[in-house]
Amino acid sequence: MSDRPTVSLDELPSILEEGRRELAAAADPEGLRTAEQSVLGKRSPLAGLRASLGRLDPSERPAAGQRIERALHELRGLAERRRDELAEDQRRAALVADRLDLTEVVVDQVLGPIRRGHLHLVTQTQHELEDTFVGMGFEVAEGPEAETDWYNFEALNMPPGHPARGMWDTFYLKLGRPETVVLRTHTSPVQIRLMEGAEQEGRLPIHSVMPGRCYRRETPDARHLAIFHQIEGLVVDRHITFGDLAGTIETFTGAYFGPDIHSRLRPSYFPFTEPSAEFEITCTICHGAGCRTCSQPGWIELGGCGMVDPAVLAAVSIDPSQWSGFAFGFGIDRCAQMRHGIADLRSLMENDVRFLRQF
Ligand code: DAH
Repeated sequence: MSDRPTVSLDELPSILEEGRRELAAAADPEGLRTAEQSVLGKRSPLAGLRASLGRLDPSERPAAGQRIERALHELRGLAERRRDELAEDQRRAALVADRLDLTEVVVDQVLGPIRRGHLHLVTQTQHELEDTFVGMGFEVAEGPEAETDWYNFEALNMPPGHPARGMWDTFYLKLGRPETVVLRTHTSPVQIRLMEGAEQEGRLPIHSVMPGRCYRRETPDARHLAIFHQIEGLVVDRHITFGDLAGTIETFTGAYFGPDIHSRLRPSYFPFTEPSAEFEITCTICHGAGCRTCSQPGWIELGGCGMVDPAVLAAVSIDPSQWSGFAFGFGIDRCAQMRHGIADLRSLMENDVRFLRQF
């Protein structure tokens, strides 16, 4: 005797219906395998019916057998189609999961508001200084950071061995003959490049500022860095006087630092200007009253300036009897320090975002 349950053929329609429902309800390949097992497997009601055929009258067997085979055939077909559908669903889901949309907008609520960075304080300061000078009618120019001895020293009236070279602690590069290529110690060599170009191409006069990075063999402290930034100014035109220089410096000081900050010039020496001056501005910390930052006088030195030395004009073949000019140069990092009351310049180089984010 078989241990399969015997089932009456009258139940075939409901068995078929239940089989269809179970197969259609399978939600994934695993579920479909279970449904197939229960609908078509050895212990399924249909298998039971088939096994009980032998107990029917022989004349009824072919018709009953055919009905059971048709039901089996239909359910096998349904299982096959369901298998295809589920495979297709899976393939689609995998495609969606793997999709890399480069144009996708990251939704704020999911990842939090996107924190954009911003320009470094020194870059911001450089741009503000450029804007101020552009507003006064200057153009902006740039030059290389690795310079030849000629541009950094010689054309600026400092021949080899000139004692004034000692004013700059220089990094020499191992390029060409020894001590012929340097990391520029100031932005003044860009003056020479501008004058050379303008003279050769007939583009005089010049009214330009030249910002950029400079290098000196210096031990960094609260007010000095070995890598720092300067902005240079140069005007070469007809009938330029020391009064034009003083007026330009005063106009700039008020425009950049505010109307209560003023400038003053004190005699000094630079090999490439004659006469030369240091320019100072009202101390931005004490507004002239005297404090520790300015060591009491109420004035703080910002940079150097003067009338372009005729020897410098001659070095670039500009006729000093036709043209005259003034020049100035000062530290961009220093400006940022004074404007924002930064105690130690080294903070600008340490890349601590807690410091940088404040500006
Ligand atoms: N290059 C000088 C320095 O780095 C600053 C300077 C002085 C620039 C006088 C000038 C100038 O253009 O006329 O110390």
